[in-house]
Amino acid sequence: MAEVTAPAETVTARIVAVQDDLVQIEAQPGPDGTPATLVKNEVVYILPSLLGDGGRQERLKAEVLRVRGTTADAQVYESTQGVAVGDPVEQTGQLLSVELGPGLLGQVYDGLQAPLANVAAEFGIFLPRGAQVAPLDPKKKWSFTPSVKLGDMVAAGDVVGTVPEGRFAHKIMVPFNWTGRYRIAWIQKGSARLHDAIARLDDGSGHEREISLAQKWPVRRALPASLLRKASSRRLFPSEPVLTSQRLIDTFFPIARGGTACIPGPFGAGKTVLQNLIARNAQVDIVIVVACGERAGEVVETIHEFPEMTDPTSGGSLMDRTIIICNTSSMPVAAREASIFTGITLGEYYRQMGLDVLLIADSTSRWAQAMRETSGRLEEIPGEEGFPAYLQSSIKGLYERAGVIRGNDGETGSLTMIGTVSPAGGNFDEPVTQATLSTVKCFLGLSSERAYKRFYPAVDPLMSWSRYAKQMAGWYDEHMEPGWVTRVAEMQELLEDGAQVEQMMQVTGEEGVTMEDFVTHQKALFLDMVYLQQDAFDPVDASVAIERQRLTFARVYDIATRRFEFPDKAAARTFFTELTGLFKNYNYTATKTPDHEQLLEKIDAMRGSAGIGAQAR
Ligand SMILES: Nc1ncnc2c1ncn2[C@@H]1O[C@H](COP(=O)(O)OP(=O)(O)O)[C@@H](O)[C@H]1O
Ligand SMILES: [Mg+2]
Repeated sequence: MAEVTAPAETVTARIVAVQDDLVQIEAQPGPDGTPATLVKNEVVYILPSLLGDGGRQERLKAEVLRVRGTTADAQVYESTQGVAVGDPVEQTGQLLSVELGPGLLGQVYDGLQAPLANVAAEFGIFLPRGAQVAPLDPKKKWSFTPSVKLGDMVAAGDVVGTVPEGRFAHKIMVPFNWTGRYRIAWIQKGSARLHDAIARLDDGSGHEREISLAQKWPVRRALPASLLRKASSRRLFPSEPVLTSQRLIDTFFPIARGGTACIPGPFGAGKTVLQNLIARNAQVDIVIVVACGERAGEVVETIHEFPEMTDPTSGGSLMDRTIIICNTSSMPVAAREASIFTGITLGEYYRQMGLDVLLIADSTSRWAQAMRETSGRLEEIPGEEGFPAYLQSSIKGLYERAGVIRGNDGETGSLTMIGTVSPAGGNFDEPVTQATLSTVKCFLGLSSERAYKRFYPAVDPLMSWSRYAKQMAGWYDEHMEPGWVTRVAEMQELLEDGAQVEQMMQVTGEEGVTMEDFVTHQKALFLDMVYLQQDAFDPVDASVAIERQRLTFARVYDIATRRFEFPDKAAARTFFTELTGLFKNYNYTATKTPDHEQLLEKIDAMRGSAGIGAQAR
């Protein structure tokens, strides 16, 4: 494990004030008397005069947040204990960046891309303050195969070759921030370490630049921005769902590949369980989990659980295609704030290779709270509930980085973003939930009432929505059945009607409603029990392929729209209770097994027995 080599910088500023993890720095006059220029979002290092353990000179990473003439406020990504007025500060001339290259998959990073596993091996679980660990192993050898030849012309984002990373061909691309066109002057097939030159590019004036397997990118900037401006890469409209194997999502509230969704819910309603289900089963290549933990223990659970989960597609460990960025609430606020940008940038990088990436941030409320704390310390004018006035635009800025991109080589990749939100007391009328809802296009609202009844996933179907359903109607017509989206909408109406009858019955009792209303209520309950609810802990029911959803939905729809004749309400209830039981067992049996077929026969016989066949509700 090598230390990151320090960039060539000198002391150009000094600390003038310290307030928790926020410091004020002042630029010092240089040799010619003029002070150095301070730049917003530049990374600086504080060198505390008070030396660390064993007389070690610590270097504390910080980021400039606000510049006012020759002074600036910087947030420090470490504890500022012992930092004193007058301590030297070095400028790096670089924005907060991540290192991109092969070896990212399977890593568990902190918010600043320090690999936690390596940290643990080298320093114990906790990284000592000011220690820096390389994000990617610089010694590991990769087998590089060029895809361009001598004399070819390339520009930023163009693929020059690949290295195998697990089961993916990791594309090596011309650094995204290079301008102009280059001629390949030299390129070498074979074994290369991360920072070895694998190609030399001529800029046309005889000047050559080297490419290695790694490059850096500033996390707060959208990675494809300049490629899109030059139209070497293109943004496409999301047009198909990212299938999650959850009936309630795929059928009722679909998330588009390259789209955005949010999962707000009170504490304990099942956000983390749902998020893990999606992470495990979603049909994507790469999953990035940004865990801004509610509690420290929760993040530890994620780190331990993921490597043990098997990947349903490959059979290998889920970690082979996963990157975890994790922050516990005990880490400095600033590091928590940065972690989501780190995750998004890594996601954009793999999308640029033509892969489908899913990013899940749990929970974005923690991220927003970190932003609130920092804003408060900067004494900015607060908006609602103390959040900064730019909360909404910051949230928008995050989700805008999702999307479908056709890369320079014509291959299409996507970045789908799902964020959980944990509003205090489950009250969705708070700024973070509201700002998120006005940004994302799919809303899966968890309710504590449903969680209390153990109706899992506790997504409330009366409150949730997906703007993608109509948008992707064409896909569903083609891959499911013509008119699919309309039928699903009909089932949503049934749920609403059922809820209304339930309200009436709470006032009048069962006797107070008509037989027809009573049956509507029974049908809605049936639909909820056997289709919306899905058992995360049953080996079959936990994940349901879209083809099985199609078949199950057809039966459920048929029953829900059939006219039944019952002698009385008790008979109706008995009928639906039995049918629900059969259907639940059907949900638990694997397709094509004898049990499964038998249950289907029983269900079909039953619906025939009471129905009068008419398809009118
Ligand atoms: N889909 C589910 N199936 C079964 N149990 C669930 C499900 N979702 C949540 N639970 C139960 O609820 C508990 C809390 O869920 P969790 O995801 O940690 O809540 P949150 O993240 O919203 O605080 C879980 O430990 C589990 O017992
Ligand atoms: Mg949780």
